[in-house]
Amino acid sequence: MSNSFVNDDVYNNLVDGQWVSSETGKTIEIKSPIDNRIVGKVQSMSTKEVDEVFKAAKKAQTMWRNVPVNKRADILYKAAKLIEESAEEIAEIMIYEIAKDKKSSVSEVKRTADFIRFTADTVKNIEGGSIPGESFPGSDRNKISIVKREPLGVILAISPFNYPVNLSASKIAPALAIGNSVVLKPPTQGSISALYLAKLFHEAGVPRGVINTITGRGSEIGDYCVTHPLVDFINFTGSTQVGQHISKITSMKPLLMELGGKDAAIILEDADINDAVKNIISGAFSYSGQRCTAVKRILVMKSIADELVSKLKYSISNLKVGNPTEGDMDIVPLIDDKAADFVEGLIEDAKKKGADLVIGGNREGRIIYPTLFDNVTLDMRIAWEEPFGPVLPIIRVNNVDEAIAIANNSEYGLQSSVFTKNINNAFYVADKLEVGTVQVNNKTERGPDHFPFLGVKSSGLGTQGIRYSIESMSRLKAIVLNIKNN
Ligand code: NAP
Ligand code: G3H
Repeated sequence: MSNSFVNDDVYNNLVDGQWVSSETGKTIEIKSPIDNRIVGKVQSMSTKEVDEVFKAAKKAQTMWRNVPVNKRADILYKAAKLIEESAEEIAEIMIYEIAKDKKSSVSEVKRTADFIRFTADTVKNIEGGSIPGESFPGSDRNKISIVKREPLGVILAISPFNYPVNLSASKIAPALAIGNSVVLKPPTQGSISALYLAKLFHEAGVPRGVINTITGRGSEIGDYCVTHPLVDFINFTGSTQVGQHISKITSMKPLLMELGGKDAAIILEDADINDAVKNIISGAFSYSGQRCTAVKRILVMKSIADELVSKLKYSISNLKVGNPTEGDMDIVPLIDDKAADFVEGLIEDAKKKGADLVIGGNREGRIIYPTLFDNVTLDMRIAWEEPFGPVLPIIRVNNVDEAIAIANNSEYGLQSSVFTKNINNAFYVADKLEVGTVQVNNKTERGPDHFPFLGVKSSGLGTQGIRYSIESMSRLKAIVLNIKNN
């Protein structure tokens, strides 16, 4: 037991307003993907301790739901300010913990502060309303339904390694805003950055028990957390594999899930090729392609494919590859050896099956050099699997309908892009793609954060985005007035 955030590089958990260590004495070493140095240690909590967290969250929520929304919003504004002021400090942790470069880390933290402020603005304007009964046949003027929004209770927020701050806060802020309490289970690799975030919410005045954290490996305590009887809602971002597992083992628990993707960029004959290249490069390769919305395959009309490939090759050769401690980099070490081995396996499979390696294909430790394959065929793993790494396959197609058919013949359905100067063609493609969002003449991406963000098929369940997240983590309550006329 301790009451400090960190003691000798060992980070504690926020439980019922106190920073506590685990009674088991078990900790997990967080090693940097850059050079294996120990960034710090986090607690490996026991199931008994997990019970205490959920009990505290349940108790606190009954108080928090009654705090007026303007007061809850004020605390969020304060949290946003503290987070923004700490951007450099948090970024220093992120650089080592998840190997994200400084510019991207600072930008993730600042985007998070904007997200929280916008959430506070939005929740104050979440409308309820009244519905007159008289509009329904047979009803009269004496019935009125007053409809308002209620929180769900205890939200279990589970976030992934690639945005440990932003994808934790994008669950925490809307959940708190509408009156839920939160238990955050951050990714193990990324947990120190996420614990820092929780500390700032706590310092901003979120009352004890309303925000709590649980650290420990998902493989050890994950199932226990998601099936815990005191959890009212699970908001999960991560792999499709873990998402599907959670969905199988939970029952009667509402779920919001943002999972994997295989976002396609479809390049039509009349596209502005230079603009498409610029978008594809940043969409596919930033943070080494470790983004759910990374551009993960190109479907290009044969007539313009040579030009596209040669321009992509040139731009890829100019990407900055290296350790994020040495400056802002496009390509950084992947999160762990397993991830790098997986991506290498996809590269070897494509080579073996006869894809043309245009550039890259090599590896140094956890760094996979940015790789472009041309003439990828549909029997290759890289045509369908999500690499979560800097490897981009080009599939040449004869016409737009072939591109749409290949794009849709995927287990995933997060986003897709279409590049064309013809608005009619853009709408033709957008209408037929089985995804949550179609970007016209832009890379696939989540923001701006008040837009709806969702995946279909194996890419997710439910909708995020500031207003949508608030709505997902709340329910309607109707109070019906029955006016008696004497
Ligand atoms: P992951 O391995 O699925 O882990 C995500 C989170 O789930 C981590 O906090 C992890 O904890 C936890 N977890 C693992 N097993 C669990 C279990 N049995 N029960 C409950 N929680 C469990 O994903 P990742 O490697 O961090 O992230 C990469 C993947 O996430 C990619 O597939 C990517 O596409 C997807 N992603 C999707 C979106 C989106 O918005 N669609 C955004 C970001 C990432 P531990 O770290 O302790 O294992
Ligand atoms: O990794 C998944 C994130 O939700 C993607 O967000 O498009 O802003 O990089 P982003």
